[in-house]
Parts: sequence; C-alpha cells; structure tokens
Amino acid sequence: MAELPLVLAITGASGAPYAVRLLQGLAGARQPTWLIVSDHGFRLLDTESGIASIDALRERVGTSSWDAHVRVFDDKDRGALPASGSVRTKGMVICPCSMGTVAAIAAGTSRSLVERAADVVLKERRKLVVVPRETPYSDIHLENMLRLTRAGGIVLPASPGFYHRPQRIEELVDFVVGRILDHVDVPHQLPRWSDSAGPS
Ligand SMILES: Cc1cc2nc3c(=O)[nH]c(=O)nc-3n(C[C@H](O)[C@H](O)[C@H](O)COP(=O)(O)O)c2cc1C
Repeated sequence: MAELPLVLAITGASGAPYAVRLLQGLAGARQPTWLIVSDHGFRLLDTESGIASIDALRERVGTSSWDAHVRVFDDKDRGALPASGSVRTKGMVICPCSMGTVAAIAAGTSRSLVERAADVVLKERRKLVVVPRETPYSDIHLENMLRLTRAGGIVLPASPGFYHRPQRIEELVDFVVGRILDHVDVPHQLPRWSDSAGPS
C-alpha cells in the first residue's frame, strides 16, 4: 500500500533551518509530504536561511527528491486536500510553530489552511507534532500548549541537547529533526544516544 502523506507546515517562528533539514529528511526517506508555508513562514525562511521563494526551497531540499515526494498547498486555500477529514494522512508536523499558530489551533479558529489542517488532524485523532520556539513563555503560551497536549497533540520544543558536545549548528539542528522524524515514524540516520556517547 502506498505511504500516506504527512502534512508539514512551516510557520513564522524562528527556526527555518529545522524546517529545511526536516524536508530533506522526509524527501530522503521517500515520505510523501504535503507542504504548507504561512506568509511569515516564508519571511523567516528568507531571513534565517536566505530562501526567498518556493523554488529556492526546492533547490535547497534537492530538486529530484522534492519533485518525487513534495506537494505544495497554498495556506490561503482552506478547501485544499489537507482541510478535509475524509482525506487520509499520516498526520501533521508544524515546524517551526509560532505562538500565534499554537494559539489559533488551541482555539480551533481554522482561519488558514495550516490552522484548518491541524484542527482536522486533531479531530480525526491523528498525530499532530508542533515544534514551538519562543522564550520565555507567557502564561498564555503555556496554557495553549497544554490545551494542544490535552487534545492529543505532541509539543516537541526546538530544544537541542548539548551532551553529545555539538561543534556545529547542523548538529543542533539534527538533534531536533531526529526527534521529530522519530515521532512520525520516518526512518533516518541522524545521530542517536549510544552507551558510549551519552543520552539522546
Ligand atoms: C524575524 C522574526 C522572528 C520571529 N520569531 C518568532 C518566534 O521565535 N516565535 C514566535 O512565536 N513568533 C515569532 N515571530 C512572530 C510571528 O512570525 C508572527 O506572530 C506571525 O504572525 C506568525 O504567523 P504564522 O504562525 O501564521 O506564521 C517572529 C517574527 C519575525 C518577523
């Protein structure tokens, strides 16, 4: 049976390198991926990774694996496939996930395709992984993340560990991306804890 698509949303929190690496990991694992990028998701891709368009993102991920495995949807189109509960998916990852999008999902507003797709994943009892990035958290942020957790979502903060003694930014990025891929059951070769190296 063909692999179900995973919905991946990129929103306007800091952490664009996580999103790029995650897309590379999904495409490399031949995971069909339905991609939605919010307006501020694009803004952060440009600011943090110098990616100013969807074509530039495709180039960065790798054109052949992108063309084979990635399908792009417009965040303004709330009638697109990810907006429907009868369309089966493997679940959804929002990486990075802004506190604005966390709040919108917690409130069930569904005012964009990202928000609607997340609402659908929760109501269909599929897997929703959100990767927030903010510091410090307000009472409102924490309450919204608790609401998502209680609704069945997984809050997986972009909080890399340091016990593997990373020397490069890429190692910090891979730490977080490996945890995300594990949670959506996508195989990867990113480093894990081993007895000789330390916890992971
Ligand atoms: C340079 C920049 C960095 C930002 N970093 C964060 C962040 O780390 N976390 C966050 O929740 N919002 C951050 N924001 C604010 C969001 O982008 C903003 O609230 C936006 O409306 C989120 O919309 P979206 O979730 O639809 O992408 C940042 C904005 C800019 C311009």
